[in-house]
Amino acid sequence: MKKDVIIACDFSSAEECYKFLDKFKEVEPKPFLKIGMELFYAAGPEIVRELKKRGFKIFLDLKLHDIPNTVKKAMKVLSNLDVDMVNVHAAGTIEMMMAAKEGLTRPDGSAPLLIAVTQLTSTSEEAMKSQLLIDNPIDETIAHYATNAMKAGLDGVVCSPLEVAKVKQACGPQFLTVTPGIRFKDSAVDDQKRITDPAMARVLGSDFIVVGRPITAASDPLEAYNKCVSDFLAPEEFNYNPSNFI
Ligand code: C5P
Repeated sequence: MKKDVIIACDFSSAEECYKFLDKFKEVEPKPFLKIGMELFYAAGPEIVRELKKRGFKIFLDLKLHDIPNTVKKAMKVLSNLDVDMVNVHAAGTIEMMMAAKEGLTRPDGSAPLLIAVTQLTSTSEEAMKSQLLIDNPIDETIAHYATNAMKAGLDGVVCSPLEVAKVKQACGPQFLTVTPGIRFKDSAVDDQKRITDPAMARVLGSDFIVVGRPITAASDPLEAYNKCVSDFLAPEEFNYNPSNFI
């Protein structure tokens, strides 16, 4: 699947989401959307079916983490929903990730992309040490979890753009990196800590950027989305000037 901008549809109802998406009626190809726990728990699988019917690609961000058998069975259900990308927590172990992959794989051998969450960007190195008793530096832990995900046959990981190089070095250039923590130079940082703008994410080698509030809370969401697309998917001859980036 080629590089793309994924809009995080963090809404608390289907109506709110559909109203937002009305602004994207004319956009072709249809944007890639992320449905997270909030919207999925509020609107259920029906919203996934409806958005697929309308032609959107869907990243279902439910971050599964349970015993392997439960994850395998849950993944089989999500695979039948015909989503394009799903994820699990790498902390569930290689065995759990392999079970997820098995559950996702359809009888014809096709499967949605399966991505592992390494360490949440909200987890600090200090909390990892004091609460989880993980003493290694956070970037080493992320690269190690990424290697586990690759061994289990997954397609990539969620990480910050700043960790893309380390992940690609450990797992190879084809291993996908899906990167939230995206902000424009002039937009609010909110609760994100390690941020880059869309152009910098492209320079750092991200495969997919996940953008929520800079698009959903913008005065003109379509304009903000178009800016993400043109900055992130700019042609190779784009004139790189470090002073343009966060
Ligand atoms: O609004 P914002 O651009 O910060 O949204 C980022 C999205 O990416 C949210 O849906 C958030 O849950 C998700 N995410 C993240 N950091 C991770 C994993 C997921 O920000 N490590």
